[in-house]
Amino acid sequence: MALIEKALVGPAPTVDNVAHGGRLYDKWWTEAGAAEPKGDMPMWALQKTNTRKGLDTWRCKECHGWDYKGKGGAYGKGSHFTGFPGVLEAAATRSRAELVQILKGGADFRHDFSKAIDEEHLGHMADFLKRGLVNLSPYIDYAANKPISANVEHGKVKYVATCVPCHGDDGKKINFGSPTEPEYVGSVAAENSWEFLHKVRAGQPAAAMPSGMVNGWSIQDMVDVLGYARTLPEK
Ligand code: HEC
Ligand code: HEC
Repeated sequence: MALIEKALVGPAPTVDNVAHGGRLYDKWWTEAGAAEPKGDMPMWALQKTNTRKGLDTWRCKECHGWDYKGKGGAYGKGSHFTGFPGVLEAAATRSRAELVQILKGGADFRHDFSKAIDEEHLGHMADFLKRGLVNLSPYIDYAANKPISANVEHGKVKYVATCVPCHGDDGKKINFGSPTEPEYVGSVAAENSWEFLHKVRAGQPAAAMPSGMVNGWSIQDMVDVLGYARTLPEK
């Protein structure tokens, strides 16, 4: 009996797989080393408010949000608004197998990623949906786009121990933008609390950046780092 249950439910996902799923949610083709998708994601045509084209339209985060709440969250207004729903509810009510089916177009044929992403990666994405999502409303003041409560001193200790080797004391060692429009740790922290937390939790796609989840950090630890990162220069 126990064996059959295990076969039906499958083994519990490792935290590495959950974090990997989070990086796929961010930008799956980079993280999976897959070919870049062409044109617009077929469901993109169901909305007209977000005017982005091409690659952006294929990122899970573009339609469902960095906060996993879609139109009910930070992408409920502004240039990223699509009107598409979030994934928190589906993740809570559907099984892993059902989530994989949704990613294979089982609920809507246009939502089929199976030609571009292999079964194993789709499974890790479902693991992230089932185990890796967090409701950020208790942590982030949505109207002000900043932490509700952050221990900046504690955030600094964690930043210095973990982030400084790659990003430098001032967060400017790597420029994520361009020479004319630079983007640093401080700019991302100021511009998008939800994106910052997602990336610190899961890591950066196809980069050596560590995952807070894998390192056993609590959400509050990461919110504290966000609080500290907001004191770093944006330019
Ligand atoms: C172009 C926009 C778009 C992209 C990109 C996209 N989705 Fe969706 N997704 C949708 C829409 C629209 C629905 C259908 C919602 C509905 O049933 O009304 C949906 C449904 C879902 C659902 C089920 C939601 C529910 O409540 O039943 C899940 C889970 C999901 N998507 C996960 C993902 C993941 C993971 C990715 C990245 C591989 C992704 N989506 C990429 C638009 C998108
Ligand atoms: C081992 C090196 C490494 C460490 C340690 C590291 N990062 Fe990163 N981080 C990267 C790389 C590489 C990128 C991607 C740069 C790019 O895409 O140009 C990145 C990207 C980022 C981004 C922005 C991504 C974007 O596309 O907007 C943020 C924010 C960030 N890191 C924050 C942090 C924080 C906070 C820590 C500490 C918890 C940290 N990183 C630790 C290497 C690292």
